[in-house]
This record gives sequence, C-alpha cells and structure tokens, in this order.
Amino acid sequence: MLELHNLAGVDGDALAAGAREITGRIGQNPEYAIPLLQEIQRRHTYLPKNLVEAVSAEAGIPVSTLFGVATFYSQFRFKPQGKHLIRICHGTACHVAGADIISTVLTQELGIEEGGTTPDNLFSFEKVACLGCCALAPVMMIGDKIYAKLSSSKIKSVLKEYKNGAA
Ligand code: FES
Repeated sequence: MLELHNLAGVDGDALAAGAREITGRIGQNPEYAIPLLQEIQRRHTYLPKNLVEAVSAEAGIPVSTLFGVATFYSQFRFKPQGKHLIRICHGTACHVAGADIISTVLTQELGIEEGGTTPDNLFSFEKVACLGCCALAPVMMIGDKIYAKLSSSKIKSVLKEYKNGAA
C-alpha cells in the first residue's frame, strides 16, 4: 500500500498557486504527466499528495493517472528525502568489491534500510546501479560528491563528518 505524505503548512490557495506555476511552466496536457511529476519532485524532493492533487486539478489530468505514472517509474519518491541523499553503488564492480558490506554498515550506522530516511531527516539511503567510476569501487555518492574505495571504517568516518556538520 502506497504511503503518501502531504506538504505541511500550506493552505489551498498556496497549493493552487504552486500548481499553476508548475503547469504554466511545463504544460497541461496528459502527455506532460512525467515532466509535471519531475518538476514537483525537483521542487520538493518527493511527490506531496496534496500538491499532486492540485496539479491534477490545474492540468485536468486525473489524479489516478498521475499516481499511476509515478508508481510505474522508480525515479519518483513518495516520502520527503533527507537533507543528504546517500547512494550506494551496487553495480557489478562495486558488488564484487563489497557493496553489500558497505550497505550493511550504513544500515547499522544510520538505523535505516534502503529507501529509508533517518528520523532527524538528515540522511536518506538508496542503492543504485553503476555510478560510472568503477575503477574506484566500492563507491557511494552523498549529494553530488563521490566517495571512493570505501571500507567499513571510511564510511563511518564520512558519516561522522556529515553528522557533525563538517561535510
Ligand atoms: S559499478 Fe559501481 S561505479 Fe561502476
């Protein structure tokens, strides 16, 4: 069952204004369903239920169509993303170099599974396919920064930097 979250602290007028801005920028035809969803996610890091509904009303696209498209593609998220998105590469080279161990250490350190976000909203964790720097395996990205040749101790010290606000 899909768990949906609303944008908090916004009234109907603000949602309608946001939806008008998004549809004005992207378009109002059902063929724009994917770019509309991408634009919502770009602005909010996920697809807030109440904003998707407002965009649906503004664009004249049934809300069931928008969520149908959103659930089909793995690029879309339905929960707010943490401040730092950690992507652990599980492509072939990283898998061989110990990506499973890296993910296990991350799960133990942060207390979240893949797809999860820490309660303090600081970290989200995703497993991804090849990040394009296989010679540096095992690899992870935090935001747009690459961390290479990871070990259990290295990942712990990197996380510590982020927790301390140093990174
Ligand atoms: S397999 Fe991990 S960077 Fe290519």
